[in-house]
Amino acid sequence: MKLLLVAGARPNFMKIAPLERELKRCSISIPGFNLSWKLVHTGQHYDNHMSSVFFKELGIAEPDYYLNAGGGTHAQQTAKIMVGFEEICSKDPADIVLVVGDVNSTIACSITAKKLHMKVAHVEAGLRSGDMSMPEEINRMVTDSISDFFFATEQSSVDNLVNEGKDRGHIYYVGNIMIDNLYYQLGKMGGSNKTGKYGVVTLHRPSNVDEEKTFSEILKALVEISKDIPLFFPAHPRTKKQLHAFGLVNMLNSGDIKLLPPLAYMEFLGLWKNALFVLTDSGGLQEETTALGVPCFTIRENTERPITVTEGTNTLTGTTYIGILNAYNNYKAGKIKQGKIPDLWDGNTAKRIVDILAFL
Ligand code: UD1
Repeated sequence: MKLLLVAGARPNFMKIAPLERELKRCSISIPGFNLSWKLVHTGQHYDNHMSSVFFKELGIAEPDYYLNAGGGTHAQQTAKIMVGFEEICSKDPADIVLVVGDVNSTIACSITAKKLHMKVAHVEAGLRSGDMSMPEEINRMVTDSISDFFFATEQSSVDNLVNEGKDRGHIYYVGNIMIDNLYYQLGKMGGSNKTGKYGVVTLHRPSNVDEEKTFSEILKALVEISKDIPLFFPAHPRTKKQLHAFGLVNMLNSGDIKLLPPLAYMEFLGLWKNALFVLTDSGGLQEETTALGVPCFTIRENTERPITVTEGTNTLTGTTYIGILNAYNNYKAGKIKQGKIPDLWDGNTAKRIVDILAFL
């Protein structure tokens, strides 16, 4: 059986790396192992610090196909990926196209594959924020509506898929593949960790950084917090662009916020794992902080990853100055969530997925 693995944007690479590693391991060590695979990089993310540095650090092989489909509006980007991916699938068809996460590459490749009568497997299926203003929510819902095999990271995802009428026999609760990558990289880490008392910030959601009023209110709260605890802020390209477009860069100087370029995986891990807390709107970081027990304040009204709140170290702050400051003041007053690691976030998710795929 042949698989086409799809990776497009930064948060995909951490999910593809453990899968590829496990596929390689099985093909070397298991006689008669029946899965072969090729890797497609759509090029949704294309800068060195958003893409190739992750391939190198996470040990992902050079992609078999590269689509160069980055930039543009959602429609332009999705369309470019679909056209390029259709060509690949037509000349090099697979039995199963495996997509991960919720980015434009995920939806584009699953639609294309399905129309060419290939099966689609979705890793990180079933997550729902209930917020249709997020492009990721649309990507998740459309991808799941046409996928054949669903790999879920938490029980809420299984429940969502069942409620949406999916065949229970094709929903697999396998744990969290991002955490496979996290533990693996942690194991390789040397002593080059940041020390001291500080917090880490990441922001990139369009709803947080594309609207001046919301963005400046969030920054006002960050400035206030940074007067107590210095903050490091590695900025996504979108965020950096908007900081300049709205003339908000100077606000950072009124507090102790150090703006950094997007960091490679290990450097970023070395920074956030020793932080007092993380302030973020990222999906993946909500899960990674829960796995390592680092307090996380999620600057959003909702999360598609509720287990990080109910079991983990995550707190939703909303996007207002008051909301963010309230959450921080609770933390300062000693109300710190301890959290626990969710079931099957154990570093063996890729193994479970490959075991299932091999017996389909
Ligand atoms: C995408 C995902 C989001 C994910 C995020 C992680 C979708 C809908 N969104 O958002 O779920 O959390 O990636 O980073 O797929 N850009 C660069 N260099 C790059 C990549 C992008 O400069 O290497 C620029 C683009 O040209 C664009 C902006 O950053 O102006 C946004 O990129 P895009 O891929 O459209 O979406 P993200 O905001 O990165």
